[in-house]
Amino acid sequence: MSSNSIQSVELLDLKAQYDSIRDEIKAAVDRVLESQYFIMGPEVKTLENELARYIRARHALGCASGSDALLLALMAIDIKPSDLVITSPYTFFATGGAIARLGAEPVFIDINPVDYNLRPSLVRSFLEGEHPLCERFENYADRVKAIIPVHLYGQCADMDPLLELAEQYGLAVIEDAAQAIGASYKHEQAGTFGDFGCFSFFPSKNLGAYGDGGLITVKDDAMAEKTGIIRLHGGKPKYYHKMVGINSRLDAIQAAIVRVKLKYLDDWSAARRDKAMKYNRLFTEEGIGITHDMLGCDTRCSAMAGEACGFSDKSDKIVLPAETTGNPDDGGRHIYHQYVIRTARRDHLMAALDKADIGYAIYYPVPLHEQECFAYLGYKPGDCPASHCAAQQTLALPIYPELSTAKQEYVVKTVVEALKT
Ligand SMILES: Cc1ncc(COP(=O)(O)O)c(C=O)c1O
Repeated sequence: MSSNSIQSVELLDLKAQYDSIRDEIKAAVDRVLESQYFIMGPEVKTLENELARYIRARHALGCASGSDALLLALMAIDIKPSDLVITSPYTFFATGGAIARLGAEPVFIDINPVDYNLRPSLVRSFLEGEHPLCERFENYADRVKAIIPVHLYGQCADMDPLLELAEQYGLAVIEDAAQAIGASYKHEQAGTFGDFGCFSFFPSKNLGAYGDGGLITVKDDAMAEKTGIIRLHGGKPKYYHKMVGINSRLDAIQAAIVRVKLKYLDDWSAARRDKAMKYNRLFTEEGIGITHDMLGCDTRCSAMAGEACGFSDKSDKIVLPAETTGNPDDGGRHIYHQYVIRTARRDHLMAALDKADIGYAIYYPVPLHEQECFAYLGYKPGDCPASHCAAQQTLALPIYPELSTAKQEYVVKTVVEALKT
């Protein structure tokens, strides 16, 4: 089919995936219905074992969502009011929300604008007392307890320097791997670097359930035991509570569905990578794809410094996603949960995509340090300039394993045409 016959492209087409596995899904759901075992039980246990093997994690525990996985990890290390937890402001709300829900304070440290992940050199400068934000947090050195790196869009954060800092300063590491199941860094899988790895089975994720669901990987045996108890209201044996936990269990029906999908995950990730490479090739051939370093604003934002931005509002260029830690030559794997470009003319481009009936999304329009609910923390947009700028310029284009070449060409043609005007 040629791109001339295409009239619309969905941002994500879950129906196409369902069509390819319908019979297996129905059989799996039926198996649970016949068993009448709906909460936890053998289906959840088997999935936990399968995922522990897939991720190569020592322990894997199902829970109710990726958000709960983060909360459980923070509860397991006894995060309490007055504690500080370092994380990225350029992420889904749950990352910061989990910290704040326990009364602790998130410390938002800026991202690397090339891959949108937490920037280790800035974390270092905070821990060494050289970051301007240190003044904001009284007695910060004694209060920092953990770091939550986020593997955004399916590419791992630069873990080695973060793990080194965590060791040096005695901090727990909780990976927010909600978008990164199957991603790797230096031959190791997301969710195995830190003390905990938090995954989401939200339906649109690369390994999505048909409702909410999540998973937490845990390195230490005693911590895994404690996390497992916290997810069951803190009771062990049942009805005997040494601590206050939450109800965060994975439904057996969701576990059965995820088990079916897990068999295909590597093929789907490979297909997503192929689509991403194809977009990169097409945009480059069209002469509009550039790399972030061509903008010349790596560690600062020229616009925020009151200078002309290298990315003018007339630019016909887009910055293509970069493989930093996800480069296969270095043992990495970016699993392209999202294919995200940068444009200085986002509104203009979105109008053209609307007109061509092409789906898109902004992940995320407001970084966490600028969210109203975190105003009490006293951040200014310029405290995290790379995150602020990314929130103005990033745009996610359609990507999913079944995306056809004709549809990709239609997306590329629309973007190229739009940027000419
Ligand atoms: C980076 C990130 N963290 C956490 C979550 C929370 O996962 P869930 O929606 O399963 O609660 C998500 C999912 O949307 C996410 O993308």
